[in-house]
Amino acid sequence: GAAELGPYRHYMQKEIFEQPRAIADTLDGIEAVVPELFDGPHAAAWRVFKEIDRVLILACGTSYYSGCTAKYWLEDIAAIPTQVEVASEYRYRTSVPDPRTLVVTISQSGETADTLAALRHAQSLGMQHTLTICNVATSAMVRECKLAYVTRAGVEIGVASTKAFTTQLAGLFLLTLALAQTKGRLTPEQEAAQLKTMRHLPVALQAVLALEPQIMGWADEFAKKENALFLGRGLHYPIALEGALKLKEISYIHAEAYPAGELKHGPLALVTSSMPVVAVAPHDALLEKLKSNLQEVRARGGVLYVLADADTQIESSEGMHVIRMPEHYGQLSPLLHVVPLQLLAYHTACARGTDVDKPRNLAKSVTVE
Ligand code: G6P
Repeated sequence: GAAELGPYRHYMQKEIFEQPRAIADTLDGIEAVVPELFDGPHAAAWRVFKEIDRVLILACGTSYYSGCTAKYWLEDIAAIPTQVEVASEYRYRTSVPDPRTLVVTISQSGETADTLAALRHAQSLGMQHTLTICNVATSAMVRECKLAYVTRAGVEIGVASTKAFTTQLAGLFLLTLALAQTKGRLTPEQEAAQLKTMRHLPVALQAVLALEPQIMGWADEFAKKENALFLGRGLHYPIALEGALKLKEISYIHAEAYPAGELKHGPLALVTSSMPVVAVAPHDALLEKLKSNLQEVRARGGVLYVLADADTQIESSEGMHVIRMPEHYGQLSPLLHVVPLQLLAYHTACARGTDVDKPRNLAKSVTVE
C-alpha cells in the first residue's frame, strides 16, 4: 500500500533505493572471509571447497546475469574454471558431468522451476557439491542444496529484479574470496583490503543513487525510442546485458546488449541517429579499447549515453552524453554501474506510462515450466 511505498511511486523505485541497506544487511556481521559463511545444515563448506576444482552456475533471468558476472571474478581471483548456463538449457541437453564441480544455483525466489530442475538434473548426473545464493531462506532451493548463502535483500515485490541482483553479486564476490582462500590464492592483506572495499559499498551506492536526476534526463529521450543498444566489456558485459533486460521488461523498448568488441560483427549495422547506445565505461584495463569502440558508433551518427568513471576523461560533446560515476570501484564496479541502468529503465518506463511493478506477460516467480 501507499504507506509501505513511502516517498516512492513504485516498489521498483523503492527497491532500487533500498540497495545500500540491502548490501549492508547482506554483509552485516562478516568479520572475515571464511568458508563457514556458506555452511548448510548438512554440510561444511570448507570440506566441499577442498574437493572441487570447477564451478557450474545455473540460473534464469537477472540471476543468470549475476552468475555471468561471477564467472569473471571466479576465474580472475580464484583461478577456478567456471561455466554459467541458463537453467532451462542445461536441464535438457547432454552435458559432460564432473563430480569435482561446485554446482551453484542463483535465485531470488528459490522456487524457479527451471533452476530447481537444473539442480536436480546436475545431482542426477552425480554432482553432489551444491550451493545456492538465494534470497529466501525457507525456499526449496535452500532446502535442496548442501550449502547456502542467504542474501538479505528483503522481500522484493517489483517483477523486475534490482536489489536481489546486487545482493547476489555481493554473495558471489564473497564466495569467490572464500574459494580463493581455500585454494591458497588470498593473502590476509588481500582479504582485509577486499572486505574494506565491500564495507564501503553502501556509501558508494548512495552516491550513485544521487545521479537519479541526470538519469531522468536520459530517460526522457529513451522514452521516444523503440530500440536501444547496450555495450560493455569484460566484467561489465553482463551489466550491459542486465541493463538491456531491465529496459525490455518494463518499458517494452527493444534492447540488446553486446560486448563492445563485437560491434563490427553485426550490431554496427543497426546504428543510426535514432538508435541510442548506452556504454558502461569503468576505468579498467579495457577502457582505451572501449573508447575506440565508441568512436565507431559516433562515426555512424549513433548517439551515445556513457556511464563513465570519474577518472576516465570521457567528456560530453555533440552526440555524446556522459554521466560521471562518483568513484572507481575496481572488481566490485558492476554493483555500482548497474544502478544507473536500473534507474534508466525505471524512469523510461514511467515516462511511457507502463505498469512498472507488473509488466505485461511477466511473473515475479516462474514456478511452472
Ligand atoms: C522471473 C523474474 C525475474 C527473475 C527470474 C529468475 O523472470 O521476472 O526478475 O530474474 O524470474 O527468478 P529467480 O527467483 O530464480 O531469481
